[in-house]
Amino acid sequence: MVKNFAHRGFSGKYPENTMLAFEKALEVGIDGIELDVHLSKDGELVIIHDEKVDRTTNGTGLVADMTLAQLKELDASAEYAGVYGINRIPTLKEYFELVKDKEIVTNIELKTGINPYPGIEEKTLAMIDAYGLREKIIISSFNHYSVKKFKELAPDIICGFLEESWIIDMAGYAKAQGVECLHPIFNAVTGEYAKAAHDAGLAINTWTVNTREDMEQMIARGVHGIIGNYPDVCKEVIEVYRD
Ligand code: G3P
Ligand code: MG
Repeated sequence: MVKNFAHRGFSGKYPENTMLAFEKALEVGIDGIELDVHLSKDGELVIIHDEKVDRTTNGTGLVADMTLAQLKELDASAEYAGVYGINRIPTLKEYFELVKDKEIVTNIELKTGINPYPGIEEKTLAMIDAYGLREKIIISSFNHYSVKKFKELAPDIICGFLEESWIIDMAGYAKAQGVECLHPIFNAVTGEYAKAAHDAGLAINTWTVNTREDMEQMIARGVHGIIGNYPDVCKEVIEVYRD
C-alpha cells in the first residue's frame, strides 16, 4: 500500500520543520516524515528548509553563518507566530529523539543544492548510526553528487534522486547510479514515467501532493510514497484504496 509521508512534518496546519509539526504528523498516524537538513556555522545538523532563516523565522541571514546557539534564539513559527507559542529550529538529533522508537520512515533531504555543506553526508550518517536508524531512513537531495556520496558511505541505506525538471530516462539514469528511489515533482509522474520506474525496479516517492485528486492520480500510477502537507487528507484517501 502507498506510504503517507508528512512533508516538513504536518506543514499544512503547523509551522514547517518544527517539532510541533513532527509531533502532529505522528498523531495523524503517518508512515513517514520528510524533513530538510542544513549545517549551522558550528557544524550542527539543523532542520530548516531554506538557506536563509528569513522566510520561516523571525530572524535574518544564512543558516551557514549562524551557530546553533544563534539559530536556537529564533522563533520558527513563521506565519503561525503567537498561535502555538515559540517553536525553535530543531536539530536532527532532537528529531531522532522523538522518532527513534516509532515505526516510521524518515526521508532526510540533504539541502546541498545551493550550499554543498562539505561533510554533511558524514555527519548525517554518524547521527543515523548513533540512533541505529539505518533501516528507517531514505536519503534524498536535488544534489545527486551528494546522494551518490552518501550511497558510497552507506550502501545499505535507501537513497533517492530529487528532480523537478522532467528529465528524459530518469529511471535509466537513477538505476545506473545505484539509487533505489525516484523523488519527482508529482506533475512529472506520467504513466510513461511510472512504467519506466516500475520496469527498472525503482520506487517513486513524489511531492508535494496536496489535493485529493492528485493523491488519487498518484495512487493510480502506482507510486510507493506520497509526500504532502496534509497527511490527514492523504490518510483518508489511502484508506479508500486499501486492498
Ligand atoms: O523532498 C521533497 C520535497 O521536499 C522537495 O522540495 O523544496 O519542498 O524541499 P522542497
Ligand atoms: Mg524537502
